[in-house]
Amino acid sequence: MRVLVTGGAGFIGSHAADRCLSDGHQVAVLDNLRSGSRSQVDPRAEFLELDTRDSRLESAIAGFRPEAILHFAAQIDVRVSCKDPIFDAEENILATLRLVEAGLANGLKHFVFASSGGAIYGEAAGPQSEGHPEVPINPYGVAKLAVDKYLHAYAVQRGLASCSLRFSNVYGPRQGAKGEAGVIAVFCKRLRDGLAPMVNGDGLQTRDFVYAPDLAEAASLVLAQRATGVYNLSTGRETSILDVARALCLHAGVDPAGIQHAPAIAGEQRRSVLDASKAGRKLGWKPATPLSAGMGGTYRWFEQNREVQ
Ligand SMILES: NC(=O)c1ccc[n+]([C@@H]2O[C@H](COP(=O)([O-])OP(=O)(O)OC[C@H]3O[C@@H](n4cnc5c(N)ncnc54)[C@H](O)[C@@H]3O)[C@@H](O)[C@H]2O)c1
Repeated sequence: MRVLVTGGAGFIGSHAADRCLSDGHQVAVLDNLRSGSRSQVDPRAEFLELDTRDSRLESAIAGFRPEAILHFAAQIDVRVSCKDPIFDAEENILATLRLVEAGLANGLKHFVFASSGGAIYGEAAGPQSEGHPEVPINPYGVAKLAVDKYLHAYAVQRGLASCSLRFSNVYGPRQGAKGEAGVIAVFCKRLRDGLAPMVNGDGLQTRDFVYAPDLAEAASLVLAQRATGVYNLSTGRETSILDVARALCLHAGVDPAGIQHAPAIAGEQRRSVLDASKAGRKLGWKPATPLSAGMGGTYRWFEQNREVQ
């Protein structure tokens, strides 16, 4: 199949693009390299250096004629979305619609979207399933939810098979440690640079950490089955930030007693955990990588890639 992976020079998208190549698909990666890196694009993939908002998008899509699009390219910073909701909507909503329209004009059959459970469901006592109330509290979450709904409308109005994958907190090799990055990447970088992890508040806030290569496996299943609808992708396990910091100290050979604490961030979500049992039942997907093994792999990657900031 011809598969276009937008954001395929970035963290999660590059794992998905690699997986598509090993599944035997013909792959093109479209990325503006804002946070992604050309070195993360396998030379077997065609590379299109382009912004999804660029007027040349349609001709790029017409040139490759993807049968499926995996859409990872996005403005990913919640704080940027709050400061500049118009920029966020242009990139995360309007550019996505242009991508779908260009795809449909050129034979697109299946559109798969990187959505976000954490940004769409609010705080809850237990794992949140796909039926949980959708209550985004920032423009980034509103945009993710809007695209999920647009894709449903495209399925009804234009017969496009589409799938929204709502990730929990993703971690793994190739994750950037700048800006509003994943906490595991931030801690790995600090430890690699000889600094102890800096935990916000008491560190007892919890997250559900899923390993990026396991998401690539989910994307592979979704493409093979031409799956449609909304799926949470997560482990269903809550882990506190303090436990993550302690485990990473051990991977780095550093005494966890040195962990530092910064003031708590006002309004930070206390608990976040998603129920991915639908993906297990319908796609046959299971997050295969235990957190400890994934954190070890991530820390080693940061050690081997000292240029990553
Ligand atoms: N990392 C997480 O925990 C997480 C959780 C839920 C959802 N997501 C979603 O997964 C997707 C991938 O996120 P990531 O963590 O891999 O981030 P990332 O920044 O590593 O990847 C995004 C990629 O898209 C590219 N890009 C950004 N804007 C673009 C544009 N306008 N045109 C072309 N390319 C553009 C960047 O250069 C980068 O390579 C995003 O849609 C994000 O919202 C991520």
